[in-house]
Amino acid sequence: MTWLNRDVISSLDFNREDLMQLFNEAKEMENYAKSKLNILDGKIMATAFFEPSTRTRLSFEAAMLRLGGRVLGFGSVEASSVAKGESLGDTIRMLDSYSDIIVIRHSLEGAAKYAADIATVPVVNAGDGTQNHPTQAMLDAYTIWREYGRIDDLTIGILGDLRYARVVTSLVQLLSNFKVKLRLISPEILRPRRELVDFMRMRGMNYSLHLNLSEVLSELDVLYVVRIQRERFPDPVEYERVKGSFKVTPESLIGAKDTLIVLHPLPRVDEVDHRLDSTKYAKYFRQSALGVPLRMALLKLVLKGD
Ligand code: CP
Repeated sequence: MTWLNRDVISSLDFNREDLMQLFNEAKEMENYAKSKLNILDGKIMATAFFEPSTRTRLSFEAAMLRLGGRVLGFGSVEASSVAKGESLGDTIRMLDSYSDIIVIRHSLEGAAKYAADIATVPVVNAGDGTQNHPTQAMLDAYTIWREYGRIDDLTIGILGDLRYARVVTSLVQLLSNFKVKLRLISPEILRPRRELVDFMRMRGMNYSLHLNLSEVLSELDVLYVVRIQRERFPDPVEYERVKGSFKVTPESLIGAKDTLIVLHPLPRVDEVDHRLDSTKYAKYFRQSALGVPLRMALLKLVLKGD
């Protein structure tokens, strides 16, 4: 399926061929991520962020500006007429008439799909509810591909809040296009939802669930860490029970492969020790920097085609 005019709602909508096309385009875009390429001159991207964001929103904006396009939008409910009671549907209808592509983040599950059903221009899901953050998953997979030159035959540990971190679902879905071993590590109450476990089983993925990093550390090529998503806990008491229950430190990585890379979608709270930043393992800042070329590639493919 061609990327042109395509909505980007869920990782499930993209196959291996789509992803390799995106990654190859992103690699090319790395040459222009700090300069300018006027291929989207005259195009406008609208950002509708109903939840806070630093990386996703600003890297989309940087990507569009680097491609010669323009951006407009808002970064909070308070900054839009939603604060006066306007509906999501009406807001999307407005943005549809003002722009060529809409990038949306929302707390509600299905908000991006709802927006895509209303809009005539392509809609990109920049994170909705607790289950979908497809462009972050694309960025994560791209970073792995850039670090290792492949994704197949790697063992990938995902540590942290596997229940409420939406990128975990999107990343696992995306990785199902590759031959990887997944080691899912979390406290008991943050284990992945039944639907995700069923998905991995249905897709025949090689996965296992663990309580401690030490159980699997020595076999990992990638350690992907996600923070505990305090804002998505239905019960604050449950959050209090698990907060601070894991932390990646230089000491906790003793016994890891020399080639291990540590990724994190960021923001971090306290789950990755700042002392790790200066070690050879830390690749999370490169990962967030690659968000610009990756999103440049995505915007180019959706708005201009192959
Ligand atoms: N990784 C990520 O989604 O970061 P932001 O919330 O800052 O966009």
